[in-house]
Amino acid sequence: MLSKYFKAALLRKIADKVGTPTYVYSKAAFLKQIGTYEKAFKGLGPLFCYAMKANSTGALCALAAAEGWGADVVSGGELYRALRAGFEPGKIIFSGVGKTQEELEYALRSGILFVNAESREEVLALERAAAKLKTRAPLSLRINPDVDPHTHRFISTGLLGSKFGVPFDEALRLYMYAAESPHLEPVGAQFHIGSQVFSARPYALAAGRLAAFMLKLASRGVNLRYADAGGGWGVKEGGEMQDPAPLAAALGGVFGGTGLKLVLEPGRSVAAPAGLLLARVLYRKKGGKKDFVVADAAMNDLVRPALYGARHPAALIGPARGAAAPRDIVGPVCESGDFLAQDALLREPAQGQLVAVYSAGAYGFSMSSQYNSRPRAAEVLITGPSSWKLIRRRETYEDLVAAETL
Ligand SMILES: Cc1ncc(COP(=O)(O)O)c(C=O)c1O
Repeated sequence: MLSKYFKAALLRKIADKVGTPTYVYSKAAFLKQIGTYEKAFKGLGPLFCYAMKANSTGALCALAAAEGWGADVVSGGELYRALRAGFEPGKIIFSGVGKTQEELEYALRSGILFVNAESREEVLALERAAAKLKTRAPLSLRINPDVDPHTHRFISTGLLGSKFGVPFDEALRLYMYAAESPHLEPVGAQFHIGSQVFSARPYALAAGRLAAFMLKLASRGVNLRYADAGGGWGVKEGGEMQDPAPLAAALGGVFGGTGLKLVLEPGRSVAAPAGLLLARVLYRKKGGKKDFVVADAAMNDLVRPALYGARHPAALIGPARGAAAPRDIVGPVCESGDFLAQDALLREPAQGQLVAVYSAGAYGFSMSSQYNSRPRAAEVLITGPSSWKLIRRRETYEDLVAAETL
C-alpha cells in the first residue's frame, strides 16, 4: 500500500502549513522505483532517461539526476528544466513529434546525447540546425514498429496510423541520407509503443523488429550505438510499479551481447506511486442517488480521471464516521467531467476533512492547468519520517495574470 509512504499525521501538518490542494511526494517512494529498475536491469547496464513529461518538477528531477539517470525531454522547456535540475547534458535525449528549429538548435548547443527525430522534414530541420552551428547532430530515429501495446487508445503510440515515428522503410532511407550528410551522425534508433503497458511481449516484438532492422543497416555500413526502447512500463493505480524483470529479460534477450547501449525512458512507473494529491472536503451533497463529496481540488489539478477515465484510489485522512458507501469526489470546476474519483468507497467525510488521491505523482501536476482561473497547487516533498519541504509554492492570483497586459 502506498499509504506507508504518506503518514496521516504528516499529511495533516503539511495541509495545515501549506494549505490544499497540494501535491505531496515521497522521496523514499521515488527512489524505491528507481532502485527497482536498477536491480532488474543490473546485467544490462542501460542508460535510464527519466521521462520528464511524467513530472518535471525540479526537486523530483534532481533526485533522478543524483542517481546518475539521464532525462528524456520533449520540448525546449523540458530541456531547460532538465539542465537546471542537474542532468548531465550527455545523458539527455530529445523526443517528440514536433520539435521546432529553435528547440533543435538549443538541444545541439546544450550538447545532448541524441535527438529522436520523427519525420523526414524533422531530420532536415536538424541538419539545418547543425549546419548553422557548424556541428554534427547525433541522430536517432523514432521508428514505429507497428506493435499493439494493448492500452488506452490515447496512450497507444506504436501502431501504424498513430502520429508517432516513421515506418521501417522510411527509416532506412533517412539513415542512408544521414550517413552521407556532413551535419548528421546516425547514432541510435528508438521505439516507444505506449504507456501503461503491462506485458513484456509487445516490447519483445518491437525490439526484435528493431534489432533486425539495425542488422540490415549495419550491412549497409550504418552502425548504430544506441537501442532505445522508450518508456511505458505499467503501474497499477494504488500500487508500486510492477516488477520490470520480465521487461529486462525481453530486452536483454534481444539486445544483450550485441554491444549496443540500451536506453530506457521510464516516466509514470517511477513518479506515479511517489505522489498523491491532498485536498480538503468543502461540502457534502446528494444528487439523486449519488453521494457527492465536493473537494477543493479539481480536474485542473488532476485531469487523468476526466481525460482517461483513470481510477485513482482515494482515502479520507483522520477519523471517519458512518459506513463506507460509494461516493463521487468532485471539484469546483464547472464541468460534469470534473471528478477525482467516482464511486469511491468512503466512510462519511466531515466538512474540512482531508482526502488523499493516490498514484498522482505522474501526469498529475505536469498536466495541471489554471482552468477556471484556479492557481496551480503547491508541491511538497517528504524527505524523511517527519521531514518535508515545499518544492513549489502555491500560485497566487497575481501569477494568473503575470504574463498578461490589459
Ligand atoms: C517518447 C516517450 N518516451 C517515454 C514516455 C514515458 O512513458 P511512461 O510515462 O508511460 O513511462 C513517453 C510517454 O508518453 C513518450 O512519449
